[in-house]
Amino acid sequence: MDVRLDGKVALVTGGSRGIGQATARLMLESGAEGVTITSRKPDNLEGSVSALMTAGVPGDRLQAIAARADDPADAERAVAQTIERFGACDILVNNAGTNPAPGPLATVDLGAVDKTWSVNQRGPLIWCQKVVRQWMADHGGSIVNVSSVGGLRPAPILGAYNISKAAVAFFTQQLASELAPSIRVNAVAPGVVRTRLAGSLWEGREAEAGKAHPLGRIGEPDDIARAIVFLASDAASWITGVVLPVDGGVIGAGTTAIS
Ligand SMILES: NC(=O)c1ccc[n+]([C@@H]2O[C@H](COP(=O)([O-])OP(=O)(O)OC[C@H]3O[C@@H](n4cnc5c(N)ncnc54)[C@H](OP(=O)(O)O)[C@@H]3O)[C@@H](O)[C@H]2O)c1
Repeated sequence: MDVRLDGKVALVTGGSRGIGQATARLMLESGAEGVTITSRKPDNLEGSVSALMTAGVPGDRLQAIAARADDPADAERAVAQTIERFGACDILVNNAGTNPAPGPLATVDLGAVDKTWSVNQRGPLIWCQKVVRQWMADHGGSIVNVSSVGGLRPAPILGAYNISKAAVAFFTQQLASELAPSIRVNAVAPGVVRTRLAGSLWEGREAEAGKAHPLGRIGEPDDIARAIVFLASDAASWITGVVLPVDGGVIGAGTTAIS
């Protein structure tokens, strides 16, 4: 089976590095007609475009737009510019995420919790509302949200973040039931992946972090990107409302990804 995105246009939030950048690259390599990447910082986006073009993606099928994940006006503008530039917005990947609120729930800073929940939890709702109203309600489409194994099972340190990712998992199921049959909504739930966001979980202790995953290593951004592209594609045309662990076996083993 060949998973292809020929003729499809995608919008990937948090595309300036990590899982979002890998997803944009794989989508273009899989034939996507156009991909818009967003993040807060124009410098990061410029770096991502350069890296993607160095990796061989066609620049005329890639667009970068500075947009905050929890800002409705930014989301509306990014969706509109995607449709204007590429003529559609068939796929949305709600990938942007943040984790500034580590620590036990009893003592966690409430301002940091507000930020985490606004970006991780309210953000996907905002982008889904915009893409549905501006494109998918009339044309159909596919949405993939990025949850986490931490949203499926409690783990130490990351309580406020994990709650936001549990919300993303339930949001995925709720939205899938509301938007079927013309729009599919699924999610991936990664284990620990080699990105900046998760740096404190693996940098300087990669072997130990890998052992917490039954398959013996931490994840690479491409491990997650492949699952996102599959769920976004027509190869998954009879799948909706699924939260797929992509976690080296953590959820299946009944353990946690935190070592
Ligand atoms: N890495 C893991 O182990 C892991 C595990 C489970 C789930 N996840 C999830 O995977 C997703 C991608 O994270 P990653 O691991 O690839 O981390 P990453 O490499 O640090 O990338 C995060 C991306 O989100 C963007 N971003 C952060 N805050 C934003 C905001 N307020 N508005 C718009 N964009 C924002 C960042 O760009 P700017 O800084 O330019 O805004 C960057 O492009 C997140 O939802 C994360 O929670 C990651």
